Order: sequence, then C-alpha cells, then structure tokens
Amino acid sequence: MEIRKIGVVGCGFMGSGIVQVCAQAGYDVVVAEISEQILSKGLATVEYYLSRDVAKGRISQQDKDSMQACIRGGITKEDLTDRDLVIEAVPEDMKIKKELFAELDRLCPGHTILCSNTSCLSVTELARATSRPDRVLGMHFLSPVPRSRLLEIVRADTTSEETLATVKAFGRSLGKEILVARDTPGFIFNYLLLALTGAAVRLLENGVASAEDIDKSMTLGLGHPIGPLALADFNGLDVGYMVAHAMYERSKDPCLAPSAMLKRMVESGRLGRKAGEGFYKYSQGE
Ligand SMILES: NC(=O)c1ccc[n+]([C@@H]2O[C@H](COP(=O)([O-])OP(=O)(O)OC[C@H]3O[C@@H](n4cnc5c(N)ncnc54)[C@H](O)[C@@H]3O)[C@@H](O)[C@H]2O)c1
Repeated sequence: MEIRKIGVVGCGFMGSGIVQVCAQAGYDVVVAEISEQILSKGLATVEYYLSRDVAKGRISQQDKDSMQACIRGGITKEDLTDRDLVIEAVPEDMKIKKELFAELDRLCPGHTILCSNTSCLSVTELARATSRPDRVLGMHFLSPVPRSRLLEIVRADTTSEETLATVKAFGRSLGKEILVARDTPGFIFNYLLLALTGAAVRLLENGVASAEDIDKSMTLGLGHPIGPLALADFNGLDVGYMVAHAMYERSKDPCLAPSAMLKRMVESGRLGRKAGEGFYKYSQGE
C-alpha cells in the first residue's frame, strides 16, 4: 500500500519531532492538537529546529520552506479523515489512547493504518479498541526524533504481515533504522534501558559503589555516551519511576521492579536534573 498522507495526533515533545521528520521526508502531514495555543507552540518547535538546521547548513532555506508547506495543523480530528497512516503521540495513558483509537477508527477510511508511539503500553489492547486490529501497530520513535536513527516497530498480536511491511517501508523512508519487537512490556529499548537503570540503582542502594563509578563502568567500559544514573537524572526520575512501575505491573518481571530508593527519591522531590538534584547535584544552567 502506498503511504502519502500522514496524520499525527499530539504536537508535544514527541509529536512535534514526528511531524518534522515526516515533513522532511516530503509527506503531506496534518497534525491535530487539543487547543490552538498548544498547536502553535508545537509548530513553533518544528520551525525552531528547521531554522537551526538552516543555520547549521544542514538544509537550505528553500528546503525549510517546502518542508513547512507540507504541514497543516488543526484542533479537530475531522482533518484526519483522508490520511493513509496516523501516528498518535498523546500522553502515556491507556484510557486516553484507547478512546482516541476508537475515535480514529470511526473517522478514518478503512485502509488507514493507526500507529501508537507508546513507550510501554499494550499495542494489542489499543488494536482491540478498533474494528481494524490488523492495521494497528506501535511506532516507537526515540527522542530527539529528528536525530535518533532508531525506530522500534511494535507488532501487536493482531497486526497483519502487510501492515508490518508497509510501516517498515514507511519508517525507512524517514531515514530510520528499523527494529521489530513483539508487543511485550517496554518492547526492546525500554526493557533494556529500564533493566540496566534498575540494576544501577540497586548497586547504589546496596552500597556497592558510588554513582560516579557505576556510571563510569558503562561509559568507559562499554562506550555508552552517558551512564545509566546520569541518564535517569536527565530524563526525570518521576518519568523513569512511572514507566518502570507500569512495565512491572504489566509483566511482574523482577528485572523491572522499581527500587525502594527510586520511590523515596521521587517522593522527596529529588527528580533529577530538572529539580537540581537526583543521583547527582546540579547547579543552575548545568
Ligand atoms: N518523552 C519521551 O522521551 C518519549 C519517548 C518515546 C515515546 N514517548 C511516548 O510518546 C507519547 C507522547 O509523549 P510526549 O513526551 O510527547 O508527551 P507531551 O505531553 O509532550 O505531548 C502530548 C501532547 O498530546 C496532546 N494531546 C493530549 N490529548 C490529546 C488528544 N485527545 N488529541 C490531540 N492531542 C492531544 C497534548 O496537548 C500534548 O501536547 C507518550 O505515549 C510517551 O510515552 C515519549
């Protein structure tokens, strides 16, 4: 099936990046948000990053103009009724996403493929909220979307071979390297990341080593660009705790159980870099 018209739902942190990469690849993109104000902010983010690419000589001003001409925004889902493929990037909440999938299923033509950017929720459960479970799957983009080379495609239990092949080809056309995972908690990337972070926190909690030495074992030992504890601080410990908790509840996999230390840190407001303190202390502007 040929994909030409893309819909994106949610123009927040991830949605704006998804809009950008689709426009960069020349697709006709419609993005839906819940208010004009949030939509303008999301589109301004796209404009900012494209302008930065122009300033850095990665693209020409003419390229930027033609990419932006591919993008249209709206605050109604009615604008999505002629799309070939729709990607949702709304908050990580099963109730919100299921209602959205049911709505998109009612509005979009039968051929439209519906994708979720969920980090850890069941894509099969989302597929079952529609009358087209064979045309639903996960497209898990990593942040920052325009820079990350990876795209994890999550195959729901119901996804057809044809849908999988179409979305793989679409993902490659965005310049991404494709991974395919079964619909399991955290898929590949978040499972490994959360298991590594959880193990690093347990080492710290058990007094085995300092945060610095635990991180160095991965940066110097394996060449990771950042250690697991520094990365957890960067992403926000509340976000990490929420994702680990959701994945553990779904799987009861002991590798994913959030530690008592992480819970205490979140409860006491040590949320990482954004709070000035997490596993490390941060001075303003750091
Ligand atoms: N933040 C990350 O690093 C990251 C990485 C990979 C995947 N994800 C996943 O991507 C999804 C979005 O995360 P985010 O960080 O971009 O969140 P975000 O809060 O930045 O953006 C969500 C946007 O969705 C909009 N929205 C909410 N309900 C809507 C609706 N019914 N219709 C249209 N728009 C609606 C909100 O106004 C908001 O702008 C989540 O499922 C998250 O787990 C996030």
